[in-house]
Amino acid sequence: MSYPFQIKSLGQYHDAYKKSVEDPESYWASVAEYFQWRKTWDKVLEWNFKEPKIEWFRGAKLNITENCLDRHLADLGDKPAIIWEPNDPGDKIRVVTYKRLHKRVCQFAQVLKNNGVKKGDRVCIYMGMIPELAYAVLACARIGAIHSVIFGGFSAQSIADRLDDAKAEYIVTCDGAYRGSKDIPLKTVIDDALIGNKIIKRVIVYTRTRTPVSMIKGRDVWWEDEMEHAEAQIEKDDIVSFPAEEMDAEDPLFILYTSGSTGKPKGVVHTCAGYMVWTTYTFVNVFQYDPGQVHFCTADIGWVTGHSYILYGPLCAGATSLMFEGIPTWPDAGRLWEIVDKHKVNIIYTAPTAIRSLMGFGLDPLKGKDLSSLKTLGTVGEPINEEAWHWYDDHIGKRKCPIVDTWWQTETGGALISNLAGVTPAKPGWATLPIPGVQPVLVDENGKEVTEKDEHGLLKGNLCIKAPWPGIIRTTYGDHERCRTNYFATYENLYFTGDGAYKDENGFYRITGRVDDVLNVSGHRIGTAEVENAINMHAGVVESAVVGYPHEIKGQGLYAYVIYNRPHVDDELTRKDILATVTRIIGAIARPDKIQFVQGLPKTRSGKIMRRILRKIAEGETKNLGDTSTLLDPAVVDDIKNGRL
Ligand code: PRX
Repeated sequence: MSYPFQIKSLGQYHDAYKKSVEDPESYWASVAEYFQWRKTWDKVLEWNFKEPKIEWFRGAKLNITENCLDRHLADLGDKPAIIWEPNDPGDKIRVVTYKRLHKRVCQFAQVLKNNGVKKGDRVCIYMGMIPELAYAVLACARIGAIHSVIFGGFSAQSIADRLDDAKAEYIVTCDGAYRGSKDIPLKTVIDDALIGNKIIKRVIVYTRTRTPVSMIKGRDVWWEDEMEHAEAQIEKDDIVSFPAEEMDAEDPLFILYTSGSTGKPKGVVHTCAGYMVWTTYTFVNVFQYDPGQVHFCTADIGWVTGHSYILYGPLCAGATSLMFEGIPTWPDAGRLWEIVDKHKVNIIYTAPTAIRSLMGFGLDPLKGKDLSSLKTLGTVGEPINEEAWHWYDDHIGKRKCPIVDTWWQTETGGALISNLAGVTPAKPGWATLPIPGVQPVLVDENGKEVTEKDEHGLLKGNLCIKAPWPGIIRTTYGDHERCRTNYFATYENLYFTGDGAYKDENGFYRITGRVDDVLNVSGHRIGTAEVENAINMHAGVVESAVVGYPHEIKGQGLYAYVIYNRPHVDDELTRKDILATVTRIIGAIARPDKIQFVQGLPKTRSGKIMRRILRKIAEGETKNLGDTSTLLDPAVVDDIKNGRL
């Protein structure tokens, strides 16, 4: 068995691509036939990038969980939907069949209903990587509530900001989460986030670590009690049912917060039908998933990669998705490979940062690992350097597994530019060709298409997309204008990705990284303005500027220049204070790698910080700093150069 929309040869790719561009409506209508609809669409696509207003499958009615679960029950009911590998390799593995997953999702949907959650309500989910996280996400989708999953590494303050922005009234969390040797007290973080909060009506707490937690009467309830009560409500004579809410194609499915170039994260909104079609289509085609295979995406469900390629894409395709609670380096750097062997994983999908970090441990952790079950390898989140690509190819894929380099963003819902495993050609470091439906264009600062090649025969420019694909962002929650100015206003009639790219003579793309003030640290997006805001919260800090610099493992590291107004006797201690502040305001993921104390920052006469100069110094370039004549006080540059870390 395969999928009717699966592309199996280079010729088919070219045909599909041509059709998708020439007649997108009939192309996507035929792909959409694979899915289960309560009612089919009146119009496949309606759009303009001016407002923007984008509607896919207008008038259609569906529930994504009927596509993820119900329709698989007859054929795949006893097949594993989720294989769960715990943090501790000695703990019990859990295999959740489609039937079991359906039951748990129905049961938790009933819990949500019992607690007052209705269609359109926002539910914040802050949990570790356990099957209950999947149940919670899918249960929201089942009753039409909008989930907003927050990565377990974010601080109480970040959560409070997100709760406020989404006007969320419900939270699902755990007492704690295991990650490697750590036990993260999630409920305590939630309690801190809720100080002064008057909107939250209910917090549902799952027990994972047995960490002591404060349970507030009238607000906090135990997951286990609620589930027990709900079981009797959904199960009668061995038949499980909880009717899925009928959703409009364009009803919001979820909000996921991501960083931009301003200080405030934005809530990217995806809707039901287009996101479903896009994640399933790209999952099957990029990885060339064959039914029965085990797919292992190492991302956390707190990021979009986990949403699209642990949950929605694989489950809609009836796949077996492996979910891992721990981290690649614990208890040792052979953990991922041990998991591959243990569960006979066929597809592994991870970030270049993870590959680089594992490379650093040498080949010892690979001793005794077979890895022969692997068929396809994938990367996501950041550019992959050729050295890491070849290590992955030689030592993990043993040169027999195609590697897909998938370029995409939270805003795109799923992969946009990527080779299709074993079907279209790969090129180390290159994401290669656009997926059908995706029309990339490289433009200069004025939005004019770049046509002149550089000395290597490559086109170079800012990466934009000309027309909508089904998984495109629809709005930023509560602020549509922000969506327009962020993505659709830089260049007329184009979606601007914020990335720079090269294009070669074969039409292959190589994404070079962000051209805005967003950094990519270990495959996670962090806005420099956000980190600066956090540093500036520290009492002694007058001003700061954060830039990226090349980091061997993380891809980019954070370099902070800080003006500090107290005669700090102990630089090291002050650095620690600043790091503690950033951890409190955003979370540990945003902690700068380097903090340099400076007397002043290089500013133009109009007061704008010249980041170009700071970037160069952070990168180690101290000679060719370019034109510094427009600086208010060029002497600060020497001071900064001399104090470079
Ligand atoms: O700069 C690009 C980089 O990650 C950014 C998107 O980050 P986020 O929304 O967190 O989503 C990450 C997972 C999809 C992009 O703007 N990026 C992502 N994939 C690649 C990449 N850069 C180069 N190559 C990739 N394959």
